[in-house]
Amino acid sequence: MLRILHVAAEIYPLVKTGGLADVVASLPPALVKRGLDARVLLPGLPGILNGMLGLKPLVRIGPVFGAAIVTFYIGRLPGSGLQAYVIDAPFLYQREGNPYVGPDGQDWSDNHLRFALLGWAAAHIASGELDPDWQPDVVHAHDWHTGLVPVYMTQNPCLKAATVFTIHNLAFRGIFPLDCHFELGLPMSKLTPNGIEFRGKISFMKAGLVYSNKITTVSPTYAGEIRTPEFGCGLDEVLRDRGCDLTGILNGVDYEIWNPDDPVIGKPYSADNLHGKEVCKLALQSELGLSKHAEGPLLAVVSRLTSQKGMDLLLAALPDLLREGAQLAILGTGDGNLEAGFRYAAAANPEMVAVHIGYDEVMSHRFMAGADALLVPSRFEPCGLTQLYALRYGTIPIVRRVGGLADTVIDATPDNLRSDRTTGFVFDEATCPALSARIREACALYRNATAWQKVQRRAMLMDFSWDDSAANYEALYRSL
Ligand code: ADP
Ligand code: GLC
Repeated sequence: MLRILHVAAEIYPLVKTGGLADVVASLPPALVKRGLDARVLLPGLPGILNGMLGLKPLVRIGPVFGAAIVTFYIGRLPGSGLQAYVIDAPFLYQREGNPYVGPDGQDWSDNHLRFALLGWAAAHIASGELDPDWQPDVVHAHDWHTGLVPVYMTQNPCLKAATVFTIHNLAFRGIFPLDCHFELGLPMSKLTPNGIEFRGKISFMKAGLVYSNKITTVSPTYAGEIRTPEFGCGLDEVLRDRGCDLTGILNGVDYEIWNPDDPVIGKPYSADNLHGKEVCKLALQSELGLSKHAEGPLLAVVSRLTSQKGMDLLLAALPDLLREGAQLAILGTGDGNLEAGFRYAAAANPEMVAVHIGYDEVMSHRFMAGADALLVPSRFEPCGLTQLYALRYGTIPIVRRVGGLADTVIDATPDNLRSDRTTGFVFDEATCPALSARIREACALYRNATAWQKVQRRAMLMDFSWDDSAANYEALYRSL
């Protein structure tokens, strides 16, 4: 039985800042379903230690990476029952709130130590030192937080396990001062431009890219984009060099969680009976204090409010959107200026614009169910999960043609509309006029109820379950 160890900093529902947590929670169980033995390794953040079931101590070590005592536990995740190793290092991980950022909004100053320990622990599980009963064949590390996994593994040439590194977002490169290497136990030989040095510093992301056996990212289009200077964040040359080992495998959706019969929405519905969706819309309008008599559709956002997500474009397009009689509902947190801009717009148009600043899992389901369309005007988008959730809820995505958005939404061109293939609206330029134009077309289609419902039904029938993607990952592991 092929044994895979996934290594990540967050996992739904215990600690989540974005799509990474959803993927780490749902890919390993999809592999287990295919007959693989998949486990995860997680840092002992409060949410993780408190949420795991049946934790049993495996071994205690220390001091290491600035932590006096580190205890490794094994337990099961709630829901999936997946086996997980947890690193309990109170000095490094017993901190409430965002896993990467302190209460002052700044990255924790010891992030290099906190995530080096995660990578180091993975290498030592691979060597059989932490759990003598289980050694992985492949260690699969996710995003910059785990970039040192393959580095520590190559320190021991006798290790047999192969490594896969997945880029979820290249924009976060995990950059630290070069002299950190003393604390990280990294040899000088690796601190070169061909190694983990990046512009006079250390990049954990680059470490993952250079030292892993295979690299994946979360959509085929993004796998192409990141080889270019425009999307490569300065790492495009490294990615071009490793081109033969880089592939894009689209993320999947856990339809047990994201389905329009989930327990928190007003009324369940399906592609055959959309009546419940109207009930969900009225409930959302009530909850947000929006008018129930708008002529246009209710457009929603569930997102980090950042420039990556094109939220400044949306703010600029708001007057055009309102002219169409459309409503806007925002659920998100992020950039202070964008939060303030949307709050101001809501105060000025209380019946048409509603803003919920905060992170709220239950509300995110109600937004998906109650909205007519979901806006994802991203400047770049490695995969994007919210448009996939929206499709399943018959909520029509309006997206920019980048990354995973380009791979998953079928544009309402005249041809696609005629042949009943359309699932959404796609625009090209990252400009307000380009976004406004597609919003206007979406509003026009919405006024034709029969045509709109046809698109809704088509969207709801799309299948982005993990089955195909998990098969692709399995093939990659077997190739190693
Ligand atoms: P990213 O990981 O870049 O933020 P994704 O689309 O991959 O983007 O994933 C975002 C995830 O975070 C989705 O599960 C989405 O529902 C969730 N999410 C984003 N903002 C919020 C919020 N304010 N409240 C609840 N869930 C949110
Ligand atoms: C990142 C990306 C997002 C992707 C998610 C899960 O946060 O920004 O596009 O869906 O990871 O892979």
